Amino acid sequence: MCGIVGYIGEQDSKEILLRGLEKLEYRGYDSAGIAVLNENGVHVFKEKGRIADLREVVNPDVEASVGIGHTRWATHGAPSRVNAHPHQSASGRFTLVHNGVIENYAILKREYLQDVELKSDTDTEVIVQLVEKFVNSGLDVEEAFRQTLMLLKGSYAIALIDSENKDVIYVAKNKSPLLVGLGDGFNVVASDAMAMLQVTNQYVELMDKEMVMVTKNSVTIKKLDGNIIDRDPYTAELDASDIEKGTYPHYMLKEIDEQPLVMRRIIQKYQDENGHLTIDPEIIEAMNEADRIYIIACGTSYHAGLVGKQFIEKWAKIPVEVHVASEFSYNMPLLSERPLFIYISQSGETADSRAVLVQTKEMGYKALTITNVPGSTLSREADYTLLLHAGPEIAVASTKAYTAQIAVLAILATVTAKAKGIELDFDLVKELGIIANVMEMLCDAKEEMEKIAREYLATTRNCFFIGRAVDFYVCLEGALKLKEISYIQAEGFAGGELKHGTIALIEEGTPVIALATQEHVNLSIRGNVKEVVARGANPCIISMKGLETEEDRYVIPAVHPMLTPLVSVVPLQLIAYYAALHRGCDVDKPRNLAKSVTVE
Ligand code: F6R
Repeated sequence: MCGIVGYIGEQDSKEILLRGLEKLEYRGYDSAGIAVLNENGVHVFKEKGRIADLREVVNPDVEASVGIGHTRWATHGAPSRVNAHPHQSASGRFTLVHNGVIENYAILKREYLQDVELKSDTDTEVIVQLVEKFVNSGLDVEEAFRQTLMLLKGSYAIALIDSENKDVIYVAKNKSPLLVGLGDGFNVVASDAMAMLQVTNQYVELMDKEMVMVTKNSVTIKKLDGNIIDRDPYTAELDASDIEKGTYPHYMLKEIDEQPLVMRRIIQKYQDENGHLTIDPEIIEAMNEADRIYIIACGTSYHAGLVGKQFIEKWAKIPVEVHVASEFSYNMPLLSERPLFIYISQSGETADSRAVLVQTKEMGYKALTITNVPGSTLSREADYTLLLHAGPEIAVASTKAYTAQIAVLAILATVTAKAKGIELDFDLVKELGIIANVMEMLCDAKEEMEKIAREYLATTRNCFFIGRAVDFYVCLEGALKLKEISYIQAEGFAGGELKHGTIALIEEGTPVIALATQEHVNLSIRGNVKEVVARGANPCIISMKGLETEEDRYVIPAVHPMLTPLVSVVPLQLIAYYAALHRGCDVDKPRNLAKSVTVE
C-alpha cells in the first residue's frame, strides 16, 4: 500500500519518477505527488487521483536531477491534495514520502511537536517535522534522521530530501518494502524493482531498521546503531514485457489469459530431469514431521488455502487448518504439538500474514511461504519458500496467482504423499497438463462469459454464488472477484447453508451462479438451485462435462475431480471482468483497494 520512488543522478528526474509511480500505481491510487530539488530549492507537485492527474499539475519547465515521489492508499486522512505526499517540514527545508503506518504518531505529536502546526491529517507528517525539530536542536541531518527513526513505532519505507543539500536522499525501512537501485552515475529508490526497471535491474535489498544515504555515486547502508552494512546487489529477473499490458485493454484480462502458460511453467519449474515432480527435501521433511499444518493467508490467497487443505489432507494425510491471518493473530487456536505454518501470499508483503509469521517464529515454529515474489518479506523471514512462477501480477484482483497457488499446493501435497510411501492413482504432471489445455479453452470462451455477465449482472445489485464441497471454496473466490471489481454485492455460500438464513435475500430475478463440478454432491447442489428458483432466482449453472443437465448454462471440459477449482474459477474470473466492464468500473484499479496490503 502506497508506493515510493526516488532518483538522484544527472538527468531530469521528473519523468523517471512519474514513470516509476505509474508502475507502482497498483499499490495505491487515490492521490500522488513528487518533489524535485534543484539550485532554486524544492518544487512539490501533488494531486488527488491518479498519476495521470498528477502529470497535469507537474510544471514541465522545472528541471531537477534529484527527486522523490509517492502514490497513496489513504490510511490516515482522506484522499486529498493536502494529505497527498510528499509532506514538508514547517520551514519547507525537508520533504518526505512515506509508505506504512506510524502507530505512535499522536504521542509523538503531543510530546515533541506541540509548537508545530501540522498541515495534513496524516501520520506521516510527524516524521518530517521531527527531523526538522532535531536539526534545529543542533544535530546534523543524518543524526536527526536517525533519532527520528528511533522514535517511530510501526511500519515505514521513507525517502527524505533536504533542500540545503542536493547530494543525498535519506532512506529508511521497517516492515514496508524498499529497495535501492544502482545505476552508472545515478541511483534510485523504489518500493518494487518493477518501478525502476526502466533505468536499472541492479538492486540492493534493505532490511528492517536500516537507514541509507543514497548519493548519485554511492549507497551507504547503516544500522540504526550506526554500524555500516556491506551488501551485494542482485539482478532483478524481470522482463519489461512482463509488466506491460501489450495489446490487452486491462492487466486483469492479460493475467487471466496467462493462466495456461503459468500452469505449464509451474510443471516445468517443479520437475526434475526425469520429469518427476520435486520439492526441496527439507520442506518435505518439515511437512512429514508436522502433526498438523496451519495455512495462514488473506483474501484470494486464503481461498487458495482452502483448496490446498483438501490436497494435503486427502493425498498426504496430514490434518490442515486454514486461517485468515488478521483473525489468527488475535485469536490463536489451540495449536498442535508439532505444527508447520504455511503462509500463502502473492505479494509476500501482506502485513496481516507477516504479523502471524513474526508471532509463530517467536514461538519457535517452522514456516514455509508460498509466494510469487522471490526475496519478499514473507519469503525472507520464513524457513522455506516455494515460488509461484506466475510472473508479476499487476491487476488488483488476483487471478493467475490464485491458480498458481493451488497448483503449487497440489505439487506439495503429492510430493509429500510420495515421500510417505502413499500411492496416488493419478499423475499430477499429466493432470496439470490437461488443466492448462482446458484453461486455454475457457479463456477462448470470452464471448460466452461476456454474454452471461451482460445478461445476469448488468443491472443487478446483488448476486449469490453457491456450491458444495470444493465448489463452495471456488464460489467464495468468484464472489470476491465480482464484488471487488464490479461493486455488486456478491457472496459465496455452501449450497446447503442457504436455507439456514440467506435464502431470505432471494427475490424475483436475483442472479444465483451455481457450480456443479463434483459428482458426489451434484444432486444436492441441483436441489439447492431448485430451492432458489422456486423463490424467483435467475440461475446460472456452470457444470463439469459428465455431470451436466439441459438447464446448465456452461459446461467445463472434464478434469481430475480434485483439481476442478483450477478451471472452474476461470469462467468466474471472466464473468467478474465483463460485469465490471459493463458497469463502467475501473477493472484494474477498483475503488478503495490496493494490490499489496502492507498495513494491518
Ligand atoms: C483479491 C486479492 C486480495 C489478496 C489479499 C492477499 O483479488 O487480490 O484478496 O489475495 O490481499 O494478498 P497476498 O496474496 O499478496 O498476501
